[in-house]
Amino acid sequence: MEGHHLIPLVVLLALLNLQLYSANELPSKSNTHYIKRSCSVTTYPKLCYNSLSIYAGKIKTNPKVLAQTALNVTIAATQETYVTMKRLSKTHGLNPIEAAAALDCVEEIGDAVDEVQKSIDEFGHVARGSNFWVQMSDIQTWVSAALTDEDTCMDGFDEHHVSGRVESLVRRYIVNVAHLTSNALALINSYA
Ligand SMILES: *[C@@H]1O[C@H](CO)[C@@H](O)[C@H](O)[C@H]1NC(C)=O
Repeated sequence: MEGHHLIPLVVLLALLNLQLYSANELPSKSNTHYIKRSCSVTTYPKLCYNSLSIYAGKIKTNPKVLAQTALNVTIAATQETYVTMKRLSKTHGLNPIEAAAALDCVEEIGDAVDEVQKSIDEFGHVARGSNFWVQMSDIQTWVSAALTDEDTCMDGFDEHHVSGRVESLVRRYIVNVAHLTSNALALINSYA
């Protein structure tokens, strides 16, 4: 009976498929090397490599997926910073300058989240063709705008020479996000 042999074959194929799939997703040496090499064009290559190498199995040697993943990592950090800023702005005991600067940051980082999200959405539609350059240029513009918003947030503290616990907390978050954003922009530029 043919059906008798059919079931184990299907099971075997499914297992093989599963194994191939997970082997494909594993970071291989050449994939992590690709990320290291690509990250060398960024301003913060170590952060770039550390934030992306765990996705090596997905990125493989694809520059588009690399840039998209960098944007994903950037938006996750930006959203986390937004939540932290919002919480901070509601903290009692901030002095008036800190409170004003924190409120400005909530708005600026909120804008940065929107801009990175727009870039991610647009990147999903990018294809080599007549619209390619327009789309890539929009993405570059939005990511640059996000970077500016992050700088503006930090400027609010720097301008008034605010230093201390609040300032150092904000700096820690913003510097990380700004560096991730800068790296994402460099990888987008490389791809374009
Ligand atoms: C980016 O994140 C989205 C949402 O979590 C996910 O669907 C997508 O696969 C990610 N893209 C890459 C390239 O990792």
